[in-house]
Amino acid sequence: MSLNESYKNIQTQIDKCLIDFLSKKSIPEELLSAIKYIFIGNGKKIRALLLIETSKIFNVRYDEAIKIALALECLHTYSLIHDDLPAMDNDDFRRGKETLHKKYSESTAILAGDALLTLAFEILTSDDIAFSDKIKLKLVNNLAVAGGLEGMIAGQILDIEFETKDIELDRIKYMQSLKTGALFNFACIAGVIMGGGNENDLERLQIFAKAFGLVFQITDDIIDINSNFINSGKTVSKDNVAGKATISNKLGSDQARVEAIKYINMATKSLNFYGTRGESLIHICENLLDRKK
Ligand code: IPE
Ligand code: IPE
Ligand code: MG
Ligand code: MG
Ligand code: MG
Repeated sequence: MSLNESYKNIQTQIDKCLIDFLSKKSIPEELLSAIKYIFIGNGKKIRALLLIETSKIFNVRYDEAIKIALALECLHTYSLIHDDLPAMDNDDFRRGKETLHKKYSESTAILAGDALLTLAFEILTSDDIAFSDKIKLKLVNNLAVAGGLEGMIAGQILDIEFETKDIELDRIKYMQSLKTGALFNFACIAGVIMGGGNENDLERLQIFAKAFGLVFQITDDIIDINSNFINSGKTVSKDNVAGKATISNKLGSDQARVEAIKYINMATKSLNFYGTRGESLIHICENLLDRKK
């Protein structure tokens, strides 16, 4: 399967999995409609793809891994809904269409975000998932840490604190490793947890995730400078106006690209041990360099 087909496939599978989950519930129409609007049929679902591909290394069953990937995508989508709010990045477009608060209302967007965050943990703890309670608890703990006080939320508050300030490169990388890297870390270690990998596996996948997260955020920041709405699905040229501390604002996009290549090499090396089993992850990472969305 080509990478494009893999993205298409994972998007379809994740959407189907969410619809199955929601169809068993009684949900107020406004909330259900808002969640479907922002989630179904769009978003790259790259965190899900990473989770599935790393799970393959550890021989985790696909039909179980996909539910964990759904939980992660729910939490990620909540982070985007809130990231776009007027009090945060104040964005009007997301995933090629109006942001949730623009299309619906701020209150609906806040609540849909809250619902997706809690849904992530409802999925992880549901009886539908065949893993032992011990594994489920580990997944819950790791996702909570990734999304929380020392993870994504920490990065988001630093991102706001750093606006309009001259921040050292290493501090920017630290902030990005939290706001973006933390969820990628979960995407990459969930397979180790589910498949019973050892400490060395955990360390390798964590190094991969850290490098991957930086490549991802550097290229997101380059997209803001060099891409357009049609390709990226979001308003571009906003980071500079908002005074965002990004690697591309700090170094220029050419030098930021050089940094990204450095991290792609780091990511590649981290998976040497797995030989051909690590190839698809490396391919996804290399492909980030020229992504348009
Ligand atoms: C955007 O994430 C937020 C960042 C961490 C830069 P994605 O680029 O993965 O967004 P979707 O899910 O594809 O819309
Ligand atoms: C968002 O980073 C990261 C999270 C939502 C945690 P950005 O603010 O750069 O993402 P975009 O550019 O709005 O997608
Ligand atoms: Mg932001
Ligand atoms: Mg934003
Ligand atoms: Mg951005």
